[in-house]
Amino acid sequence: MEDYICVIDSLRGRKIVLGVSGGVAAYKAAALVRALGRMGADVHVVLTEAGARFVAAPTFHALSGNRVWTSLWDGSMENGIPHIALVRGADAILIAPASADIIASLANGLAGDLLSTLCLARDCPLLVAPAMNRQMWENPATQRNAATLREDGVFILGPDKGEQACGETGPGRMLEPEALCEAILAFFTPKLLAGRKVVITAGPTFEAIDPVRGITNSSSGKMGYAIAAACARSGAEVVLVSGPVALPTPAGVRRIDASSALRMRDEVLAALPGADVFIAVAAVADYRPVETAGHKIKKSGAAMQLALVPNPDILAEVAARPDAPFCVGFAAESHDLDMFAEGKRRAKRLPMLVGNLLADGLCGDDNTVVIYDDEGRHPLPRAPKAFVARQIVEHLARLLPAA
Ligand code: CTP
Repeated sequence: MEDYICVIDSLRGRKIVLGVSGGVAAYKAAALVRALGRMGADVHVVLTEAGARFVAAPTFHALSGNRVWTSLWDGSMENGIPHIALVRGADAILIAPASADIIASLANGLAGDLLSTLCLARDCPLLVAPAMNRQMWENPATQRNAATLREDGVFILGPDKGEQACGETGPGRMLEPEALCEAILAFFTPKLLAGRKVVITAGPTFEAIDPVRGITNSSSGKMGYAIAAACARSGAEVVLVSGPVALPTPAGVRRIDASSALRMRDEVLAALPGADVFIAVAAVADYRPVETAGHKIKKSGAAMQLALVPNPDILAEVAARPDAPFCVGFAAESHDLDMFAEGKRRAKRLPMLVGNLLADGLCGDDNTVVIYDDEGRHPLPRAPKAFVARQIVEHLARLLPAA
């Protein structure tokens, strides 16, 4: 799973009832249980009779660490009523895979087995991830049932399009476990940035010397991507202007690739209208070659000199605009972090800057940062970048002027 999704402890204390109904995609539910558990969730699996034909209860028991429930008539629950006991105290019910049959049952309020009965008895949100043959999904009956569920406030996740187990291609594939985890995480994230537009730069830039060579740096883009994901989960419209990195685009984020500093600047300025926040995480090259050779430069054996000119400072330029959004800068320093970071914040007139010491490098998975603002310095504990990103978003949401 990608590091920006795998937020350790982010679902700690959440009780999730996972319903597994009959479908080949039940095998993916096993990976889903594991992923939710890694994120700290307490997962209780309810298996339908058809679901158990695809994956048996011991698999889910081993992966969740909890007993698997299959029958309405199981008297071993403390109050002898599994459909009530299971659902009370649950933070959400997720059905993945959700067959056409369970979707039809839910839409019509049927209560023929444990899963449909506990959904009827729920007092928590219900999320449903359909999985079926494309024609079954497109059938007007299923579409009608899905529309009824949406009207009833049920969240339908997917389905995806693509190759199906039956050999056909089309809509009906269950979302992958990573995408479902992301949806659950977004579901539980407070919408601190609802209605806000955020523009973010991330990654290194690449300043071309000739068609195959260039000046760049070791920024992985992980911090910027983690912040983009955290902003999207917090309800913001996110535009991510990205230098060259090997990372997938976070869910709900519009990504624009911009390799050089000049391109990055143009794309940021184009994305800026309507933005409430600009977060400059990119490690922008301070200089670029005066000229980019049209052909590959051949070696001559003699010493070579490369003439460089300064690149525009994108953050300083945006922060100096009369209509500047709330600007957040980043500073990676090898020493004297407080002095340099606070100096950059003041020089660029930023309300907030995130500083870190380069001891962590630019591409690790963890980060130790200090937030600087008008109130002073706020050190955050060392943590995975996704976790740090969430805290940065919470801090910025507190400082953001009311819309
Ligand atoms: N930044 C930018 N455009 C640039 C250079 C930096 O938007 N051309 C942004 C970075 O994204 C980051 C902050 O400015 O948010 C970093 O500030 P800066 O003073 O430029 O840092 P360094 O380039 O690391 O400065 P120095 O090399 O002097 O330490």
